[in-house]
Amino acid sequence: MTHPASVELAALRDEALRLATNAADDAALDAVVQAFLGKSGRLKGHLKRLGSVPAAERPALGKAVNDTVTEVEAAIATRRKALGDARLEAALSDPGFDPTLPGAPVARGTLHPLTLVDQRLDEIFRSMGFYVLDYPEVDSEHYNFEALNIPADHPARDMQDTFWLNDGNLLRTHTSAGQVRTMKAFAPPFRAIFPGRVFRYEATDASHEHTFHQVEGLCIDRHVSVPHLQASMKTLLSGVFGREVKVRLRPGYFPFVEPGFELDIGCLVCDGAGCPVCKRSGWVELLPCGLVHPNVLRAGGLDPDEWQGWAFGLGLSRLVMMRYKIDDIRHLLAGDVRFLSQFSGTGLE
Ligand code: DAH
Repeated sequence: MTHPASVELAALRDEALRLATNAADDAALDAVVQAFLGKSGRLKGHLKRLGSVPAAERPALGKAVNDTVTEVEAAIATRRKALGDARLEAALSDPGFDPTLPGAPVARGTLHPLTLVDQRLDEIFRSMGFYVLDYPEVDSEHYNFEALNIPADHPARDMQDTFWLNDGNLLRTHTSAGQVRTMKAFAPPFRAIFPGRVFRYEATDASHEHTFHQVEGLCIDRHVSVPHLQASMKTLLSGVFGREVKVRLRPGYFPFVEPGFELDIGCLVCDGAGCPVCKRSGWVELLPCGLVHPNVLRAGGLDPDEWQGWAFGLGLSRLVMMRYKIDDIRHLLAGDVRFLSQFSGTGLE
């Protein structure tokens, strides 16, 4: 006599096959899968009945359940393919469908212009024997200010409005925060650049952002000079722009260099005619620099009678704006793909 479990299995099989074959859409097929084929679904769940079946009949019933599962899976796959084929058929027979039209373009990502220029700078500086280093964006008052000869009551602190954190640390206001870290980490002589994001608590306009990018450079040796600094800067700028740019050097004040300079370049957006980027002056402040102050060398554990250095703080965001004639710094971090996608094929990638 056939065991009731076998009779039920036959009924389940019929029901599952009927539902699969007549399923109107993928969702209906998914429902069949869930109801019958899941671990505790009605078909696989049927294996639990084996305990109540006489031992002699168990192997046959177990096999029958597994065969039925395979059969139902096949029916579902067949129906799924038929539904897909029907959809394609319907699309193809639409009178508006034109198989000769070109396909939709697949959008490829592009490197950010800041990345493109930074990679080029890294390459140029590596070729001149510089390390390329990375330092934390959250830093201490010590490295950002004190070690750079800017004590708490120094008016120079007002030059850089600071985002302070509750724990007394800060978002670094400049990549110069890496200078003394570098002096402590490497035995002189050495040369290094450290590119990165910096943060200022200030109002934004076409040439100011609260978050922007700098590249700091530091060269420590027994004898360094302003001409050495100048020559390095010239190599750098001609490498980035692929041509000679107009530059001028003005005295500049920064507590961590003596003497300090401002290197300006002729505005490449307007070619000196005057535009928002150069504040209508024809010149863009690009690169403050100078000879490292003895107090900073001391903070880095170096004897100023033995070691000297030069340093610069390059405005990478400004440099990118010059390089690509971008007239508003706020475009750089706005994340607008229409803006960002313009920089592939521009020669630096
Ligand atoms: N850290 C300064 C700033 O962000 C820029 C700077 C000036 C860096 C002179 C230097 C330097 O290395 O020598 O305003």
